[in-house]
Amino acid sequence: MCGIVGFAGAQPAAPILLDGLKKLEYRGYDSAGIAVQDGGLISVVKTRGVIKNLCDKTDNGSTLSGTSGIGHTRWATHGAPDDVNAHPHVSNDGMFAVVHNGIIENFAVLKDELEKKGYRFESQTDTEIVANLLDLYYKGDLLEAVMKTVSRLDGSYSLGVLCAEHPGKIVAVREKSPLILGVGVKENYFASDVTALVAHTRNVIYLDDGEVAVLTADSIDIYNASGKKIEKSTSRVIWDIEAAEKGGYEHFMLKEIMEQPRAILSTLEPRIKDGRIVLDDIPDSYFDGVQRIIITACGSAYYAGCVGRYVIEKLCRIPVTVELASELRYHDPIIDENTLLIVISQSGETADTIAALRECKERGAKSLAIVNVVGSTIARLADYRIYTWAGPEIAVATTKGYTTQVAVLGLFAVFAADKLGRITKERYAELIGELLKLPSKVQRAVDLNSHISYLAKRYASHRDVFFIGRNIDYAVALEGSLKLKEISYIFSEPYAAGELKHGPIALIEQDTLVITLCCYDELFEKTLSNIEQVKARGATVLAVAHEGNGKIFHVADDAVFVPDSEPLFAAVPEIIPLQLFAYYIAKENGCDIDKPKNLAKSVTVE
Ligand code: G6P
Repeated sequence: MCGIVGFAGAQPAAPILLDGLKKLEYRGYDSAGIAVQDGGLISVVKTRGVIKNLCDKTDNGSTLSGTSGIGHTRWATHGAPDDVNAHPHVSNDGMFAVVHNGIIENFAVLKDELEKKGYRFESQTDTEIVANLLDLYYKGDLLEAVMKTVSRLDGSYSLGVLCAEHPGKIVAVREKSPLILGVGVKENYFASDVTALVAHTRNVIYLDDGEVAVLTADSIDIYNASGKKIEKSTSRVIWDIEAAEKGGYEHFMLKEIMEQPRAILSTLEPRIKDGRIVLDDIPDSYFDGVQRIIITACGSAYYAGCVGRYVIEKLCRIPVTVELASELRYHDPIIDENTLLIVISQSGETADTIAALRECKERGAKSLAIVNVVGSTIARLADYRIYTWAGPEIAVATTKGYTTQVAVLGLFAVFAADKLGRITKERYAELIGELLKLPSKVQRAVDLNSHISYLAKRYASHRDVFFIGRNIDYAVALEGSLKLKEISYIFSEPYAAGELKHGPIALIEQDTLVITLCCYDELFEKTLSNIEQVKARGATVLAVAHEGNGKIFHVADDAVFVPDSEPLFAAVPEIIPLQLFAYYIAKENGCDIDKPKNLAKSVTVE
C-alpha cells in the first residue's frame, strides 16, 4: 500500500527520494511523486504508473534541485490512480506539499468547510484537504500549523509535510499508520517502512501515535500530541541492505522461498537453550487462568493461525478459535481476562489486525503477538511478542513470513503445553527435537525446486484447481490455494476433503486439477477415499505426501514427496512445494510475480 519517504540533508534530495520509493515498490502502488524544496519554492513531479516513469520525467532526479523533500507511492483509495490524484498534494498558494498514507475519515466535512473559505480542489483525494488546512492555520509557525491541522483530522494516517518558507525542514506526523525516522550523519530521513531507510542508516526512531517530528539535516525534534517536546530513544535495525535485494534471483519470491531453512533456523534455534524453550520475556505465570485462546490475523497470517489452532489444541487441550481480524473486530466478541489473544502479522501494521487487537485488549484479553517487523505497531501494542526472524519480506505473496509464523506457533504450543503441565517430559523433549529438525527438512523440500518447475509446466494450462486435505493438511490447503490465486490469477478453491461431497464435487469434471495434501498420516486413509471420489469423476490428482508413502502412486497422477515429520509440524515442509508450484505456474503464465495486480504487501487501510 502507500509508502512515504522524506529527506533533509546537504545532498540533492530528489535522487535519494526516488531511491527510497524504489525500495517501497514491493508494497504495491499505482502512482508516485516527489516534492523538493529549493530557495523558497516547492517543485512537484508526479505520475501514474511505476517509479521508472518518475525517474524518466526527472532525469533520475537531476532536474529538481534542493536538499530536502518528500515522496510517495500511492495505492488508490479516494479517486482513480492518475497523475492528478498522485501525491504530493500542494496547497492552493503552493506553500505546502503533503504526502499521506491512510484515510482521513472526516475529509468530506473538512473539504466543505475549506471550499466555503474559498479553497479549490483539483483532486478527489482526502490528502489535498490536509495541504489546504495547513495553509489555513499557517501564520509563520510551521509546528503550530501542523498541530492545529492534525487536531482536525479523524482517521488513521501518517503525513510528510514540506513548507516553502522553511527550507531544509521536513515534518513527519504519525497517527495509527507507520512512520519511522532515520537518523543519519548530517542528514535525516523518514519513511513508512524501514526498507527505505537501511541503505542510508540503521539508526531509527519509531514514532508513536499522535507524535510529530520536525527534521533538518542536523536535528530531529519530536513532539507529543499536546505539542510538548519529548525525547525518544534510537533503535538499531539489524536487517542489512542485501537482505532487501534480490541477490541474483529472478524474483524476490523465489529468493524468499529459498531463504526459508535459514529463516526457520534463526527463528527457532535461539529460543531453545539446553533442551528448554525460552520465549523471550514471557513470564511463567502468563498462562494462569487462561481458559481459551483466540488467534486473529488476516491473509496468510490467518492461515498460519489455522495450522496453529490444531497444534495448540492438540498439545495444550485449551479451546482455540481462529478469527479473521476484519470479522473479529466487529462482532462484539465475548472476551474476558481469561482469554489469550494471539495476533499474527508479518508486517505488524495490518489495519484490521491492529483494530482487532485493540478491541480485544479493551475487553480485557491477554495478548501475544507473533510478528516479523521489530518495533511495528502490533509488536508494541501486545503484552508480549515473539518475533519471527525471517528478515525483510519483499514479495507481496508471503512465504518465509508464513512458515516462520507456523514454526513459532509450534514452538509456542510446546512451550505452553509444558507450562500448563499437559505434556510429559519425554514428549516435550521429543517435540523440541522435531522442531530443531525443521530447517533441514525444509531444505529438502526447497530442493524439490526443479521437480516442481517441471510439474508446473505440465499443469500451467489448468484454469480451475482444488486444494483438499484434512486437519492440518486442510489448513495447508488454504494457504496453498491462496498462493496460487494471488500470483497466478488462477481460480482455486481450498476445501476440507470430507466436505467435498457436500457441494463442490459437482464442479469436478474431466481434468479438473485436484491438489491433495496427504501429510497428516492419521487421516491418510480417509483422504485416500476422497482422492478416489474425485478420480472417479475424471479429476487429475497431484498429491503431496511423505517420503516413503508408496500407496499414493496407486491413486494419484503425480506426487511430490516431502520429508516425513512429526505430524503436528508437518505443515512447514508441506507448504514449500505449493509455494514453488504457485511460483512456477505464475512464471509459466507470464505474471508479475513479486507485485501481483491489485494486491498490497501491507494493508494499512480497512
Ligand atoms: C496482505 C499480504 C498477505 C498477508 C496479509 C496480512 O494481504 O499480501 O501476504 O498475509 O496482508 O499481512 P500481515 O503483514 O499482517 O501478515
